[in-house]
Amino acid sequence: MSTRERTSLLVNAKDVVLDGDSGTSLLVALREQLDLRAVRPGCAVGECGACTVLIDGVPAQSCQTSVGEAAGRSVTTPEGLRTPEGDHPALTAFLDLEAAQCGYCVNGIMMRVAGIADRADRPTDIAGLAAALEGQLCRCGTHARLLEAAARVVLGDDAPVVSTCELRRCDACVPDEHEATSIDALPELVQGSPDVSDWLRVTDEGRVEVLTGRSEIGQAVHTALRQIVAAHVGLSTSLVDVVAPTTSRSRNEGFTAGSRSVMEGGQALAMAATALRRLAVERAAARLGRPVEALMLGDDGTILGGDTAPLGLADLVAGDAGQLTGPITPADAPDWGLAGLGVPERRHDLEAKLTGPAFLHDLDLPDMVHAKLVLPPSVHATLVSTDIDAVRAIDGVVEVVHDGRLLMVIAERESVALRAAAALEARTRWEDPGLGLSAGVLETMRGLPSKPHVTRQDEGVDDALAQGTRVVATYTRPYQSHGSMSPSAGVAWLQAGHLEVWSHTQGVFQLRKEIAALLGERVASVTVHHADGPGSYGQNAADDAAALAALGALAVPGRPVRLHLSVGDEFHWEPYGTAMAADLEASFDADGRILAWRHRTLTDGHMNRPAGQGDRTIAAWLPEGGSVPPKPPVTEGGARNIVPIYALPRVEGIADHVTGPLRSGSLRSLGSFHNVFAQESFMDEVAEAAGMDAVAFRLAHLTDQRAREVLETAVEAAGRQPHVGPSGRGMGVALSRYHDHMGFAAVVAEVEVDVDAGVLAVRRLTIASDLGTVVNPEGARQQLEGGALQGVSRTLFEELRVDRRGVRTDSWETYPVLRFPDVPRIDLILLDRHGAPPLGAGEVTTPPVPAAIANAIDDATGIRLRDLPITLDALRDRVLGMDEGELARVLLG
Ligand code: FES
Repeated sequence: MSTRERTSLLVNAKDVVLDGDSGTSLLVALREQLDLRAVRPGCAVGECGACTVLIDGVPAQSCQTSVGEAAGRSVTTPEGLRTPEGDHPALTAFLDLEAAQCGYCVNGIMMRVAGIADRADRPTDIAGLAAALEGQLCRCGTHARLLEAAARVVLGDDAPVVSTCELRRCDACVPDEHEATSIDALPELVQGSPDVSDWLRVTDEGRVEVLTGRSEIGQAVHTALRQIVAAHVGLSTSLVDVVAPTTSRSRNEGFTAGSRSVMEGGQALAMAATALRRLAVERAAARLGRPVEALMLGDDGTILGGDTAPLGLADLVAGDAGQLTGPITPADAPDWGLAGLGVPERRHDLEAKLTGPAFLHDLDLPDMVHAKLVLPPSVHATLVSTDIDAVRAIDGVVEVVHDGRLLMVIAERESVALRAAAALEARTRWEDPGLGLSAGVLETMRGLPSKPHVTRQDEGVDDALAQGTRVVATYTRPYQSHGSMSPSAGVAWLQAGHLEVWSHTQGVFQLRKEIAALLGERVASVTVHHADGPGSYGQNAADDAAALAALGALAVPGRPVRLHLSVGDEFHWEPYGTAMAADLEASFDADGRILAWRHRTLTDGHMNRPAGQGDRTIAAWLPEGGSVPPKPPVTEGGARNIVPIYALPRVEGIADHVTGPLRSGSLRSLGSFHNVFAQESFMDEVAEAAGMDAVAFRLAHLTDQRAREVLETAVEAAGRQPHVGPSGRGMGVALSRYHDHMGFAAVVAEVEVDVDAGVLAVRRLTIASDLGTVVNPEGARQQLEGGALQGVSRTLFEELRVDRRGVRTDSWETYPVLRFPDVPRIDLILLDRHGAPPLGAGEVTTPPVPAAIANAIDDATGIRLRDLPITLDALRDRVLGMDEGELARVLLG
């Protein structure tokens, strides 16, 4: 039972008094009353560890500790790790090693490490340390780097490594069509924004501002873009600032998605930067009366070669001269061989993220109010009854919105909003017909009308499949969640008809159009600003939260509204990565040459983001007279990588799109994740049927030299030996080139399977990748490691629980994911083709991981598993369902 009182405690070595309900969570009170916003709000149900603090030196989840329970005790928050005497070793280690992608999980992990380091019985090896961190989640897959930082604090500088990265300059790599050093036509992005000043602006201080439309979502893209601009202007990176995307200033580059930020956005910025340098020198030459050839721009921003007083970038744009403007031309082609590329560059955002407010979730605007939702149990549910008057009467409640099925409480404080929303939920009844599934999800989807997306359909596939030896198999995956470290948030503020929105969206311009269409004449104009959020890995509920906050802002004009979804809201309502089934057929001749290959994938849509329709977010579906969720369009997303990387004579690759039972959207690597799982598992199956080693079989069908090189590099580094069929060693290989034209990755997985001991684990991943020019080695490493570890998580653990009533997953307890003890050693070789255009890193390693693991399990046990997630229970069930032929392959006793 809670009471209103004043509670004294020690926080970061200072006496403080917290007032209000002593039952309020310490997490909310620390942030709300003491402004200690480095304590991160995560799931708020004690399952993620984001909000960990020290209480009397012992790690504790502040969301599960009440203010009353903390009375009289000493609390240390991440802010307390920095004192006038210096930084705590944990803060130093995590900053030094840049152990973060989005950074949202780090503060909680850092606090737990600080607590572990002070224990008398602290762990003495990596396995013990990983076990001690089991309750802390990281969803970006930064585990290896985080473990390394933790080990430095707890085990000392000599702690064994958990991952390695070799940057292998690949000067001898064969050139290909991507290596052009000049361009004939301007890229599409530059055609759309052809002037230098569209992309870059020189400030009064002589700094260069980058007006990119690319959102920082944990991929460290702003660091890479800073390097690209600095290298091409010829400036020190310390003089370049990347501005967070905003519809009021930035370029509209579409969504930050598809691993295209460096590949396409970086290309446009490289050209703009080259043009800026040219224009600066031309203006200086005109002003100094000197030939252009006699001048150059120094890396401190001053013009060199003039005889008069130094002239800097700021001087060139001062007064009437104004910004450097002029068209970007094909002659401003990027130079990917510049010295400033491929070298370490520290991230500028981590210091703030590890020590204070840095995320949208921390935004604090004047007179801000807090909104919480009471959502229906599903999109199909109807409201039977509610009682908003009783909740309106709660002290501190500003407004209760009741519009159709939209129930939103708005209060002065978040603590009050939480209490009031709980009260409203208790007074609300819904009727939910459920999904009405009479069969399993995929069985249901197979019975639905479909629309094909044909990627390739060669003549004669049927005839060729009827010749030679034919192999057939089906591979499936369930619905999977983005599962961000914290549920999504949004902030909106309506003033004099103008709506200002802050969101961790991946497309500020698309969200602006969406919200404008949703609200119609209720607003005169909309501006959307990007603010960092927890890593999203595709379309999570960030846009929904922003649109819902906008509805809240209409209810309390003049006051900014901050809305933070609950973990249950997010798991129940987000656009999931769709369930899929892939049916594969192939035939081969007596020489082991593939004659034909068919790959038909059953899928829901992978792209259903807001783009100005006004009907793509939850905010459109709940109010009276609202729209119904639209069907995702048929796009290439489900067919991505459906045509194998191999040179095959006859291929059919078709994705059959249906509208599945749940909302679907883009999840890291879209259809590639499943299509490559199916293909690369199937390559092993066909190779064995042909009596060939799986790697030799791949190479026999592989003409792409870059693909061959990554495959051979990974296999050699892993020490894999050729063999046919299961060897008992537990090593599996997979290869892909993301989206057919982007980065290459080959993965060798090593697994341990011990059914009696209850062990099914990935012990090591050896990865070789070719991303063209590696702009920022640490950023590329973390993206590749993170993509691979998310691949492991999605292969071994992740499955949304769905039954005929609907989605049953509502927290981390019901959505298992990879945790620290599950993290394999990772050895990464980056084949750096310095000078070649960069190809993007974000989604390159995720697709090949599931097949590498499935192939490794088959190699270890002789048990082929074709359905994700792959678990020990699934392995046992598979054996029980085997016929005699299959049992003959099984190596287990
Ligand atoms: Fe761990 Fe993003 S870095 S959740």
